[in-house]
Amino acid sequence: MRVLGIETSCDETGIAVYEDGRGLLAQAVYSQVEIHAEYGGVVPELASRDHIRKTLPLIHQVLDESGLTRADIDGVAYTAGPGLIGALLVGSAFGRALAWAWKVPAIGVHHMEGHLLAPLLEEPAPAFPFVALLVSGGHTQLIDVLGIGRYRLLGESLDDAAGEAFDKTAKLLGLPYPGGPELARLAERGDPQRFRFPRPMTDRPGLDFSFSGLKTFALNTLRTELTEAADPEQTRADIARAFEEAVVDTLVIKCRRALRETGRQRLILAGGVSANRRLRERMNQAIAADGGQSYYPRPALCTDNGAMIAFAGCQRLLAGHTEPLAFKPRARWPM
Ligand code: KG4
Ligand code: ZN
Repeated sequence: MRVLGIETSCDETGIAVYEDGRGLLAQAVYSQVEIHAEYGGVVPELASRDHIRKTLPLIHQVLDESGLTRADIDGVAYTAGPGLIGALLVGSAFGRALAWAWKVPAIGVHHMEGHLLAPLLEEPAPAFPFVALLVSGGHTQLIDVLGIGRYRLLGESLDDAAGEAFDKTAKLLGLPYPGGPELARLAERGDPQRFRFPRPMTDRPGLDFSFSGLKTFALNTLRTELTEAADPEQTRADIARAFEEAVVDTLVIKCRRALRETGRQRLILAGGVSANRRLRERMNQAIAADGGQSYYPRPALCTDNGAMIAFAGCQRLLAGHTEPLAFKPRARWPM
């Protein structure tokens, strides 16, 4: 089965073709980052309009690159939520309409299930069961994964997602959008010893997270330190480093706890923040020291992409899932 995947939940248009048993045949991602940069964040209406412009040309490009025609496609998967509703409507309408015209089944995919299954696109793929840490701009969740579609929520953020905390703190530090990767770059020049940020909710049992306090801590540190700092640029880098260390430490502590409590050996990381180099390094060391294994998709499959949607949709279609012609994207949608 060959499935075309369409991802348009936020500010990336992602298109890919996945073939069951063979893998990824082609993929393309177009990022709207330049459009939104001058506003300091994603402008939903501009995102929708640009998805309309880019979706069909990218589908043509991906089909050309894979040497396929539309007659070779057996199903269409599109992101049905959660995300920006206008942006979701574009991908959903294209996906549903193409499937109807091509007389193949369509399937609306949960964006976070896409992220969750992305590590299975890599070699070696982790075997079930495993614990997944989903860390993106909208979600921070620990999930016990028993198989495809068999997910048990172990814990989640009670306020900001980890990526959201990265983005908001980056803004406080005067960094351009998108803040997460910029903050990580600045942190590389920072001194990890100068400031120590709290590790929220690690001193009590449970697997939930809270990241909004770290942003406030960063703001207060910035206010007190920047007034008398001899070198404001170094102070910013030191704050970025302390913030990143605190987020990474907190995620590592909770992941080890989740593996211990569930008795699982394998941990997968997915979502935009799992592209963070420091997080990967520290998590690898910690999980290996406990005798477990950690898995990550390549960075291009951590952030939003069409490949993960094609893959998740293919698994759903193979399992016999169907949907009616009427489609209903959902801005909010628990997994
Ligand atoms: O999964 P994703 O592309 O989109 C959502 O579904 O949200 O994740 C985007 C998030 C943003 O908050 C971004 O700042 C963060 O992932 N991010 C990073 C890094 N790369 C992306 N955060 C920290 N370090 C990075 N290297
Ligand atoms: Zn995402």
